[in-house]
Amino acid sequence: MYDRAVPGFSRRDFIGGFTALSASLTGMMAFATPGVKPRKHPSMRKVRFQAMDRVRVGIIGVGGRGTGVLSDFLNTGHVDLIAACDINPAATARATRLAKSKGQKEPALYGKNEKDFENLCKRDDLDLVIIATPWDWHVPMAVSAMKNGHHAAVEVPAANTLAECWKLVETSEETRRHCMILENCCYGYTEMMVKLMCDAGEFGEIVHGEAAYIHDLRAILLEDASEGLWRRFPHIKENGNLYPTHGLGPVAQYMNVNRGDRFETLVSLSSREASLTEYRDRTQAADNAKRKEKYQCGDMNTSILRTAKGRTVMLQHDVVTPRPYTRHNMISGTKGTFADYPARIYLDRMGDDSWHDLKEFTDKYEHPYWRKNGELARKSGGHGGMDFIMAYRLVETMRQGDVPDIDVYDTAAWSAPKALSEASVKRGGAPQAFPDFTRGDWDVKPK
Ligand SMILES: NC(=O)c1ccc[n+]([C@@H]2O[C@H](COP(=O)([O-])OP(=O)(O)OC[C@H]3O[C@@H](n4cnc5c(N)ncnc54)[C@H](O)[C@@H]3O)[C@@H](O)[C@H]2O)c1
Repeated sequence: MYDRAVPGFSRRDFIGGFTALSASLTGMMAFATPGVKPRKHPSMRKVRFQAMDRVRVGIIGVGGRGTGVLSDFLNTGHVDLIAACDINPAATARATRLAKSKGQKEPALYGKNEKDFENLCKRDDLDLVIIATPWDWHVPMAVSAMKNGHHAAVEVPAANTLAECWKLVETSEETRRHCMILENCCYGYTEMMVKLMCDAGEFGEIVHGEAAYIHDLRAILLEDASEGLWRRFPHIKENGNLYPTHGLGPVAQYMNVNRGDRFETLVSLSSREASLTEYRDRTQAADNAKRKEKYQCGDMNTSILRTAKGRTVMLQHDVVTPRPYTRHNMISGTKGTFADYPARIYLDRMGDDSWHDLKEFTDKYEHPYWRKNGELARKSGGHGGMDFIMAYRLVETMRQGDVPDIDVYDTAAWSAPKALSEASVKRGGAPQAFPDFTRGDWDVKPK
């Protein structure tokens, strides 16, 4: 029946999806989950950085994002930029100017071809390699950094496929180097405060969250520079959630995913594609080569993730319809709900059935990092200051020899919905088993 009713959806898909779902629901997930391989090296959970006074950084990709991130890391005051790599000489020149404007020496420059990042990674004077290149380069660059003994900090999403997610996990475990996704939204003022409220039990037992990346990128996708040179192409080849981590990272942290719970199953459907085509036809000349492109990615992709402890997350992606920005950023439990855009709270004990301003909770729950560094963050950091707080926190963690907030298992789990949503959409919304990247090590509460 399903074979005929739903294009691309076979009986085998249905049986396979159902088998994987029921296997995981009965608690056999780590080794019943397809693609989970036996561990060859010890886990990277709770592995500390070696403490250091200053953090020696190499950066690969100094375009729009790389420039902003580099500025934030330099503004922490505890970073030395040793080397920068970009195939665009204007970008490396910008990195040099930026470094010098912050009182740093000229960095060594790389970028004579697309593989020159390997020479940056071969240097023996780096602690951390920051990667802010187009998506297809993230994994080869992070792997090269780790194999040469450096920690890797990778832009979002870190990986495109499940095989790439596993490659990051296995390389991190083998090399004993950390691989952290640079998920800046986890460091937002609101997100850090709501995380403290979740940990304090204000919302009771958490049952559901909502997360999204809804951002009108039509003009950027079609421009002839920067992201327009690469970010539209996945819309031609793929249909699913191309950019899951900004919304999902914070909600995963609210739920202690990988630290007491884990994502177990995902189902996903996409709407029809219409907005990018319509906008393209309206804005590009009839003889422009872009007019021949055929976009596969549905305007709105909606996934539902279910965790081992029975929580759900609705996760959406829409970068092409005219609509104000939102990441939803919502979390709900037995004692109350937080919802964002705008930030608002309702707790059972309020009893008035109406939203209250998050500000009512500032005195008790404003995160100490924001209390201490908020002014500097807002002045120097991108995205309302969260980029600076992220840089500051990672650099402090390395200097203090602490455990990173976000490890390779989070990096893989937050990126995996890209591949899993595409697989589910292709099979008419069939459940996809979420790999347990921790290999059974997830049911451990935070320290
Ligand atoms: N966290 C955030 O808020 C945020 C915001 C924007 C972009 N991003 C992410 O940052 C990354 C970069 O995005 P962007 O907006 O800076 O794009 P961009 O196109 O402006 O910059 C990419 C840079 O990478 C360089 N590059 C490409 N291939 C290279 C190679 N093989 N070796 C060296 N350099 C290479 C390009 O020349 C360019 O300068 C993407 O992964 C994107 O998703 C994250």
